[in-house]
Amino acid sequence: MNIIGGPASQLLAGRVSGSLKSNLLISEFKKFPDGELYTRVIDDIGSEVTIIQSTVNDSDLVALLQLIDACSEASRVNVVIPYMGYARQDKQFKKGEPISARAIARTIQADNVYTINIHDISILDYFDAKAVNLDATPLIGKYIKNMEFNDPLIIAPDDGAINIAKSASVELGIDYDYLEKTRLTGETVSIHQKNIDVKGRDIIIIDDIISTGGTMAETISMLRKQGAHEVFAACVHPVLSNNAILKLFKAGVKGIISTDTIDKGVSVVSAAPVIASVI
Ligand code: R5P
Repeated sequence: MNIIGGPASQLLAGRVSGSLKSNLLISEFKKFPDGELYTRVIDDIGSEVTIIQSTVNDSDLVALLQLIDACSEASRVNVVIPYMGYARQDKQFKKGEPISARAIARTIQADNVYTINIHDISILDYFDAKAVNLDATPLIGKYIKNMEFNDPLIIAPDDGAINIAKSASVELGIDYDYLEKTRLTGETVSIHQKNIDVKGRDIIIIDDIISTGGTMAETISMLRKQGAHEVFAACVHPVLSNNAILKLFKAGVKGIISTDTIDKGVSVVSAAPVIASVI
């Protein structure tokens, strides 16, 4: 099985190929003078290939489509989309809107598609290929297990993240709880007060995505006001747009932990083992 790392997932592709001892193909990614992308797989593609490419922005999607097309002559093409952009527009919220996740999924033609902690599992049905969602949260749990905490508790900032909190907490053997959130604007949310005993405890808030940081910052502030000792923010996908990191620290976070589905400074947990286990 040959592995191609797209421009957004080179570190992760390298880690996957390292753990499987498989062949990592070298590609060329550059821009034409008009801004269009030029993509070329330099090494021999072979008959079975796995492309690993997160689609954090629109160019990443174009690069993925180009890579899939470049592999047209392979007999089996797996596509791993560690972080799939547009997944949060998974339904029509207002009349006239597209289901963007569906629009993107329909463009991805492959033999198998793998996503990691996709925003909503229903998106998998939009792919023509057999699509499987992988869970990287036990790996976050394993990482957290090696840290020292005082009476720790895992908290999901909204009910959509309950499964993630549960999955990470199983690894740790500690309790989890969840809060309720109302989104006010693209960047602001309100977290409903809930009577959870956090006084003097270390809290790990876990979510699928930290994007603008609005959800985490609000949750961190609330828990700190309720007397939590140290508060950590963990997520699978560190989108970290705008001033997300600053917002979290201003709210009093002790540390940020994420996987490398998007390669950022906080990506201390590699999702490579879950990918390696399926390809
Ligand atoms: C929403 O349902 C997601 O699970 C995350 O809570 C959300 O994407 C986080 O966004 P932000 O960091 O912008 O609050």
